[in-house]
Amino acid sequence: MTVILRINKRWIAILGLIIGILIIQSFNISQPYPPVPPLPAIDIAQYWPSPVEDGHCDGKIFVYQIPDSIQVPKAVRDGRCHESNYNSEVILYNQLVDPDSTIHKLYVTQNPDEASFFFIPFFGSCYLYHCWSLHGWDWDERCDVDSRYVDPLMNIVIQDLPFWNASQGKDHVMIHPMDKTFTYYDHNSRFQPAIFLTTVGDKRRIWANRHRFQRDIVIPSATRLIHHLNIDISQYLTQDGHPKNGNKRDIFALFHGCCGDVQPGDLYSNGIRSLLFQYFQHYRGYDIGTGLADMDYAEKLARTKYGLAPMGWTLDTTRIWEYIAFGVVPVVIADGIIEPFERDLDWDSFIVRVRRDEVHRLDEILHGIDDVTYEYKRRKLWEHGRSVGLEKDAWHYIVRDLCRMNDIDRPVNLHLGY
Ligand SMILES: *[C@@H]1O[C@H](CO)[C@@H](O)[C@H](O)[C@H]1NC(C)=O
Repeated sequence: MTVILRINKRWIAILGLIIGILIIQSFNISQPYPPVPPLPAIDIAQYWPSPVEDGHCDGKIFVYQIPDSIQVPKAVRDGRCHESNYNSEVILYNQLVDPDSTIHKLYVTQNPDEASFFFIPFFGSCYLYHCWSLHGWDWDERCDVDSRYVDPLMNIVIQDLPFWNASQGKDHVMIHPMDKTFTYYDHNSRFQPAIFLTTVGDKRRIWANRHRFQRDIVIPSATRLIHHLNIDISQYLTQDGHPKNGNKRDIFALFHGCCGDVQPGDLYSNGIRSLLFQYFQHYRGYDIGTGLADMDYAEKLARTKYGLAPMGWTLDTTRIWEYIAFGVVPVVIADGIIEPFERDLDWDSFIVRVRRDEVHRLDEILHGIDDVTYEYKRRKLWEHGRSVGLEKDAWHYIVRDLCRMNDIDRPVNLHLGY
């Protein structure tokens, strides 16, 4: 009798203990952690990125005058070349020399003695694009670009005026907006000391011969839709970047581009695009294809949440500039890319990066992004990321990088008013 009783007591004690633990635990569960308040605002000077109007130096630029007999004709620049993806050299030059533009008023000087930088109006991409258009798009054709364009142009810069020699070309600036940057020109050694503005930034060692460490500034590309057709985004989106007429961004992920038959082992896009065409094309909410008419594409951009930007032959793709202009959060799949103005633009606040070894998990990764995080990125893109485009603040960021590159630290307020 007493033995049974003792066991019972022990059981009761153990049972009591277990119940106690459970009560304490459920108490913990029902007692949530206190809500975490957002941190208070801090002095803007302690914060990164800094507002675009905080210039690093006044960065006055002297623009060389190149005689018409040598220069690529204006009619070709503003005609044939305006449609090309290499149009950035034309756009940036036009902004610089247009007397009505903010860029001209802020930065350009006619007095070389007060200039910090010297701009060489070199339209090599336009020369070659025009040349290829006249020769059945034979990309190997050069139309004597070295003897007929590079040499006479550099002779003027080096021999007619003293400024190139004064700095050994180090404060001179020229644009190379094509995939292979300066390597199209056999005589590129003549202008190698200059700072190059390039549209491809690549950290991979295999292309180190094209991407000059600390001598290149990566700039945005031009796109046909935004910079040639000058599409009016406000026809599609509200001031806050939402689709008009109460429409939703009902396309989950968009990609239109080359090439439907890419294989996983291909060099092109390092095989990445094969997974888009072979698999994700069939997923719900994905709109993946090899091309669309301009206006159909614009209409879809306005309805898209995520824009896929997988590398092609190069890491950068011009389509990212259409995504950005339309407030579509870019999904960059290009390991090793250097985005334009990384020192001044918080790219990770408004893009999603997916590495090549995770592309097979793309759908899982994108669906794992909660609505609040998506909205955060979309808003950062609309309010901050969009400013980078050629049609917006690109020159301000270029001048900042020029100041840094030549160690000029003279902070200046640009009074942009935004
Ligand atoms: C600059 O240096 C080169 C090479 O030494 C020379 O040929 C050229 O005449 C010089 N330019 C000027 C303007 O003195």
